[in-house]
Amino acid sequence: MLRERSSRRRMASSSTAAAALVVAALLLSSSPSPAAAAAGRGGELRMKHSDGGYSYNRTLAHIFVQYASAVYTSDLTSLFAWTCPRCQGDTKGFEMIEIIVDVENCLQAFVGVAPDPQSILIAFRGTQEHSVSNWIEDLFWKQLDVGYPGMPDAMVHHGFYTAYYNTTVRHEILESVRWARKTYGRLPINVVGHSMGGALASFCALDLSVKYGSQEVQLMTFGQPRVGNPSFAAYFSDQVPRTIRVTHQNDIVPHLPPYFCYLGEWTYHHFSREVWLHETIVGNVVTRNETICDGSGEDPTCSRSVYGRSVADHLEYYGVSLHADSRGTCQFVIGSTNMAYGTILEVDRTIIMTRYPQECTGFSRSSPEDKERFEEPRTDENQKMQSSMVGGHC
Ligand SMILES: *[C@@H]1O[C@H](CO)[C@@H](O)[C@H](O)[C@H]1NC(C)=O
Ligand SMILES: *[C@@H]1O[C@H](CO)[C@@H](O)[C@H](O)[C@H]1NC(C)=O
Ligand SMILES: *[C@@H]1O[C@H](CO)[C@@H](O)[C@H](O)[C@H]1NC(C)=O
Repeated sequence: MLRERSSRRRMASSSTAAAALVVAALLLSSSPSPAAAAAGRGGELRMKHSDGGYSYNRTLAHIFVQYASAVYTSDLTSLFAWTCPRCQGDTKGFEMIEIIVDVENCLQAFVGVAPDPQSILIAFRGTQEHSVSNWIEDLFWKQLDVGYPGMPDAMVHHGFYTAYYNTTVRHEILESVRWARKTYGRLPINVVGHSMGGALASFCALDLSVKYGSQEVQLMTFGQPRVGNPSFAAYFSDQVPRTIRVTHQNDIVPHLPPYFCYLGEWTYHHFSREVWLHETIVGNVVTRNETICDGSGEDPTCSRSVYGRSVADHLEYYGVSLHADSRGTCQFVIGSTNMAYGTILEVDRTIIMTRYPQECTGFSRSSPEDKERFEEPRTDENQKMQSSMVGGHC
């Protein structure tokens, strides 16, 4: 089923760049075809895609979408105990390690150990800050305004970038993964997310790939927006080759922020590999169809072949609904009975429920890892723990 085609690659690492230049020179001199001419445009090259044979697994997608749905649960107690209505089916037996709710940015994520595929599983929720349609409207205007550190020419939007890198969420996820691998052994890591959560999941998978190695990390997102420019997409595909980006029919969000091929590095560009879910109607027979797209990230025969106008298609993947139980607000509920979690605390306006004991002295939570990307010192005010939130051992 996998249709191998060429992919758009920006000249990235110096060794491959040199090889790519030779290939480009050969292409341009020997065959001045429109394809080769197009390949040279905007400083991009078409090269054979290599993703180490990684391919789409539908069974896996059906399992992962259930995690992407469960992370929308606002009753944190039942989410932690994995007894919530969305915590059934193929995800039965999931062991929660930590739930993180960034109240200020209205983000929610969890880390736990999944039984199938046996792995550390990280899930990110999409936005709830405004109504979904307000958020979608905002997506049109997102600028590529932050250079991705350590990767020349790679640009992303600061809102997407900071939502992961500049919040307590990142620190907590790295800590939980470290703890999980110490406690459960060296399990592979799966990262999933829907919508804005897919954007966060992407940055998280990239972060973990750099830290633990590309072969340890697998990413699957559902209806995610574009997050960076062509250079970023090429860098991302090198670092996180085990990536599936699922899109659904006319879902509007994967079309945003818009892609303008003539803008070179100044446009958003998806990374591969897209899998487009769509229905084909022949006569009165409706067939569900899954197209495995090319390695370019912007396959014109996949979701780009249709107008992306549907919010309804955004909120449902594989027949599973992906939105909060209460729309339009950022709510969460914590019950006090039968606490399955060891610790609950608030740091930097973030609620953390965790199975393992947290260090409780002083809350100097910025580790050297955080300082890799952010130099700003955190203020005392941010680090203040609100005692009213404490329900655990601290
Ligand atoms: C797809 O994923 C499922 C669930 O983890 C697994 O049981 C199955 O072996 C996988 N299939 C392939 C072909 O890898
Ligand atoms: C990171 O967050 C802090 C406090 O929330 C803020 O002052 C700072 O400007 C942010 N940095 C970036 C790069 O957005
Ligand atoms: C599935 O969609 C592709 C186009 O994306 C089309 O070529 C193919 O014929 C479709 N398959 C079925 C069974 O409808």
